[in-house]
Order: sequence, then structure tokens, then C-alpha cells
Amino acid sequence: MGAYSEAYRLSLGDPERFWLDAARLIDWSSFPTRALDDSGAPFYRWFPDGELNTSYNALDRHVERGHGDRDALIWDSAMVPARRRYTYRELRDEVARAAGALASLGVGKGDRVVVSMPMVPEAVITMLACSRIGAVHSVVFGGFAAKELAVRIDDARPKVVVAASCGLEPGRVVRYKPILDEALELSSHRPDHVVVLQRDQARAELRHGEYDWQDVVPGAAPADPVPVASTDPLYILYTSGTTGKPKGVLRTAGDHAVALAWSMGAVYDVREGDVWWTASDVGWVVGHSYIVYAPLLVGATTVVYEGKPIGTPDAGAFWRVVSEYGVRRLFAAPTALRVIKKVDPRGAELAKYDLGSLTGLFMAGERLDPETYQWASDMLGVPVIDHWWQTETGWAIAANPRGLEPMPVKPGSATVPMPGWDVRIVDSEGEELPAGQEGEIVIRLPLPPGALATLWGDDERFVESYLSRHEGFYTTGDSGSFDEDGYLSVMGRVDDVINVAGHRLSTGAIEAALASHPAVAECAVIGVPDPVKGQVPHGLVVLKSGADADAADLGAELVAAVRRDVGPVAAVRDVTVVPALPKTRSGKILRKTMRALAAGRDEQPPPTIEDPAVLESLKPLLRRTEPHP
Ligand code: COA
Ligand code: AMP
Repeated sequence: MGAYSEAYRLSLGDPERFWLDAARLIDWSSFPTRALDDSGAPFYRWFPDGELNTSYNALDRHVERGHGDRDALIWDSAMVPARRRYTYRELRDEVARAAGALASLGVGKGDRVVVSMPMVPEAVITMLACSRIGAVHSVVFGGFAAKELAVRIDDARPKVVVAASCGLEPGRVVRYKPILDEALELSSHRPDHVVVLQRDQARAELRHGEYDWQDVVPGAAPADPVPVASTDPLYILYTSGTTGKPKGVLRTAGDHAVALAWSMGAVYDVREGDVWWTASDVGWVVGHSYIVYAPLLVGATTVVYEGKPIGTPDAGAFWRVVSEYGVRRLFAAPTALRVIKKVDPRGAELAKYDLGSLTGLFMAGERLDPETYQWASDMLGVPVIDHWWQTETGWAIAANPRGLEPMPVKPGSATVPMPGWDVRIVDSEGEELPAGQEGEIVIRLPLPPGALATLWGDDERFVESYLSRHEGFYTTGDSGSFDEDGYLSVMGRVDDVINVAGHRLSTGAIEAALASHPAVAECAVIGVPDPVKGQVPHGLVVLKSGADADAADLGAELVAAVRRDVGPVAAVRDVTVVPALPKTRSGKILRKTMRALAAGRDEQPPPTIEDPAVLESLKPLLRRTEPHP
């Protein structure tokens, strides 16, 4: 039996042995005597009597082992432009001071800190500072509007908000502080304090109770790592659900550290001293797990890049960073490669750089389409590895375990389920489907370490959203199939979540923004295939009778409403006025049928359709979209 099969079998057959063994990758102040506590199922607790500190594991222990002078973090901003390096010792000391500053502002164990920062080292420092004192961070992606930030502030109820004065997008400075001010006007919760990292590109005005990072962090008394229970919360990360209200995915400390440290070796084959770069954003789960925690937990060097794959300044940006820092493994989203391919299809920019250090490219966030896979493989000449996971799962559900047993790549497949993930394909009744048949992807409980513990403050929603559809299983919301060799192909969401340029968005939130326009009677938003972004949202609106709306103005107003309420990242460009929306007799809009038509599939509408002519009339519009490669 190969190393992968053996590990997989053991992880499901004897999870105690498998995960207690993996727990040795972490330094615990109190080593757990048990791996799994299932007494409160479906709320499982991993390493219930273990105690540790994540920041100690990510920083101090490497310094104590003599690696204080190794680079921990390299910041490269193509936007400023600027570069900065932190050794493990420097990063530990800076994190300790930031932790001391937060403590002096009254932040303690279990208190929440909302972080609204772009890709600057201080974002990573704040996250690690929270974990150092047992506080719970909740990072909010900078591309969201004030309203989205307000919803998250109200849900997380932070004691302190740490923000940057601005983010830098191509051709535009995004002033974070006015967005935060507006969010605080909209929210009913008030944090005690706000700390602002002032960036020269747009300094913010500070009000009473608000502090400049420079005034509170550098002079703060350093805080030591505080041991926390393995089952204590580490962070909350909001993600889009099928309704407009985001879900606060809650991750707990001990199992998170174990799973990420294990994945770094087994999945990515990254060891201490390696230079690793994840080209994502700290506002997404990929950033949490693989920009911040995993690389530092194993003593690697993490590259933090502020910039885009193209235009900052050109399509060679990624290759410059790889060559400049000797990146060994790169993790990015397929959409980033597609934009590079579009601008530089023959790799003229790529040819300018020495990419000799690069030994593998990992892709996630959306399906790696075979064409992009082929292009990247040809251009880079290294293994290009797709792997599948979600904010909820925290690390790969299915991957090619490069450090355990590299497996042959099949383009279009995310390879095989990782240890701990008992993946099944079922029909809508929960009946398991044989190889070759596409169905809903579900995971048998318990989920392994590193997966969400619950939704912050809402156990009921956790059960209802993920565990109630198929008894004893977690519903991923994705569809896919296994082949005869046990390889998993993930085809896309079966719900109203869409994935735009690797950004996960809720169509419900976009619909709410469109519906707020006074001329709109009702609307539906569906994700339609896009050759570069994977999907883009397309809004269909029905106007109120007698609505006095000039078509050109209305389109612009609706796009502006989405930008105002959800944020620029929703990237709504296309809104079409239609006479009616197809519905069932009970009034449910047939989004799934429209989605299928837009994706080029001729799905039969349900028999309960109210007026088939409405759907027929929309078919030419829905089929207009260019198919995904
Ligand atoms: N702060 C503020 N605004 C942001 C933002 C941020 N952090 N990120 C994106 N935006 C804005 C963009 O400026 C753009 O605004 P515009 O409409 O005024 O031009 C809008 O949101 C849409 O952005 P996006 O869809 O990201 O398009 P883009 O052209 O800026 O970039 C990519 C395209 C492919 C480079 C980019 O989407 C990307 O890198 N995606 C990968 C995402 C990722 O890493 N996901 C995690 C899974 S690995
Ligand atoms: P997020 O929670 O933002 O990471 O988005 C998770 C969703 O992105 C998944 O449910 C999938 O729909 C999609 N996704 C992520 N990675 C992949 C992949 N490798 N293949 C197919 N879909 C993916």
C-alpha cells in the first residue's frame, strides 16, 4: 500500500492514532491525551485537553531553536512600490509589541478584534498578535463596502478594530478609514478603540479613542504567548452563504495548528527554510491558512505580495517575485493565471526571469480548467496541482499529496481526498452514487481537525446550513464525481454562491442591493461563465409598473448600488431589464434552471413551473454568454 493510501485508511480507521501523531508537529504547553471528543456530536472537539499558543508555534519556537535570523516574512509591494524583510526574531518581537498594545487597550482572551487591512505586514502581525494573547481576529477583505463591514462588526462585536488608512488598487487609492467610519455609523456595536496604520498614500484623520499604530505599537511592552485550550476560538472568518447574511466560520486553535502544519509537509511538500508564496489576500481563507499560519508554523519563509498578476506593472509581476526571492512553491488562483495568459500568452514576460527555484504551482479557489492547466504546465515546466477546499474546511479536502506520495495529475481533477476527509457523492435523497456519476459532494462526520467548529454565535445555523440536508454528513454545496481510480472532479456550486475571480460572493447580497433601487420590483442574480473570472454575476431585474427609469441611467444606478452595498469586488457589470422572471407556482424564482441555461446545459424546468413561456423568452439572453474553457 502506498503512503497516501495508508495514511488515508489510518486517518479514518484510527483517527486517534493518526491525529495524535500529527499533533507532535506542534509544541503544546499541555500535550493532548485524546484526539477526538465526540460526546457533543455533531459538535466535535479535537484535542479536548490540549493547551497551546499558536503565535508561539509560528514564531518563538523557531527562534528558540536557533533560527531567529531566518527570514520569516518578505513583503513585496508592487503598488508602493516597496520591500521589507522580517527575520523570525524581528517578527516575533513586532508581534509581541502589537500584542502588548492590544492588551493595553483592554483586549484579552476571547475578545474579538476586527482587522480591516490590505496586504501589508501589519495585517499578519495583528493576526498573530491576537493569537498571542488568546484574542479572536476577524479579518474583513478590503474589497467589501461599508455595509458588509458593518454586518461583520455587529456580528463579531469587536473590542478593537485595527485598520489601515488605505489600500492600493491599480490607479486608485482605496481609503479604508472613511469606509470604517461609515461602517461604524451603520453598525449598532461600538468597539472601544480603533487603531489605524497610517500609510503615506492617504493618511486618515483620527478621532477620539482612535490611535495611530505608530503611537501604540512600537513603544508597547511586549506580551508573552498565553496558553489557550485547543478548543478555544482562534479566528472568525466571514464567508458568503446563500442568503445575504455572511456566515462567521469559527476556527479553534489546536486542531487548526495541527492540520495546517501537517498539510504543509504532506500536501505541499514544504519544510522549514523553504520560500513559499501564496498570491492571495489575508481577507480570504487561503490567505489565513497559507499566507499567515501554515508557512510560519513549519518555519518556512512566507512572501506577502501587495499587487496584481498584471498591470503592476506588467504580466511578469508573478515571475519577478518568484525569481527575486527564490520562491520554491507558489499557490495562486486559476483566474490569476488566466489574466496573465490573456496578456502574455506566449510567456514573453516570463522568459525574462530565472524561475529555477520554482518546483511546483498549486491552484485553488475555483476549478483549474484543463486549458489553463496545460498552459501553466507548458510555460513553467513544473507540476501544476489543483486542489479543492473551502473557507469552512480551512485546508484541502482533495489534493495531490506531494509530500506524502506524489500522484499522477489528471487535468480537471483535484486528485484524491486528503486524510480525514471521508468524501462521498450522493443524489438529492442521500443515496451514494457510483464512480462516473455526478452528484452532491458530502463529507461524513466528523470533519477532521482544521475544519470549522461552528458558526460564530449561531450553532443552529451551523447545523441547518451544513448538517441537516443529509444526516451524518457535511454538505459542501459543491457537485462533482469520482472516477474509477478514486480521483475527484469538482464541477461547481449547487447553491446560490458564486465565485468571481476567486472571490466567493453571495447572489443574495447582490440581489438585496439591486432590490433597494426604487424602480426594481424584483430581481435575480445568477453566476454566468466568464473566460477570465470563471464566473461573473448577471442581474435580471423586473421594474415596478409605471417605473420611470431611463434604461442607460438605470443600468449605471444599479451597478452603483451593488458597489455601494456589497463592494467593488462584486464586479457587477451586466444588469438586464426583463418583463418577468420564471417562477414556480409557489413563487420561487427558478435560479437553478437559469444558471444551468447560462452554463450551456439544457436543464428541464421543474414541473411546478408557473408559466413556461417566461423561461422560453429568457433563453436567448441566458445562452448568450461565452462558455467557460
Ligand atoms: N480592496 C479594494 N478593492 C478591491 C480589492 C481590495 N482588496 N480587491 C479587488 N478590488 C476591486 C478592484 O479594484 C476592482 O475595482 P474596479 O471595479 O474599480 O476596477 C473590483 O474590486 C473587482 O476586482 P477583481 O474582480 O479582483 O478584478 P481585478 O481586475 O482587480 O483583478 C485578478 C483580477 C484576477 C487579478 C484578481 O481578481 C485576483 O487576483 N484574484 C484572485 C483572488 C484570490 O486570490 N482568491 C483566493 C483564492 S486563491
Ligand atoms: P472559498 O470558501 O472562498 O474558498 O470558496 C470555496 C468554493 O470555491 C468551493 O465550494 C468551490 O465551489 C470553489 N473551489 C475552490 N477550490 C476549487 C477547486 N480546486 N476546484 C473546484 N472548485 C473550487
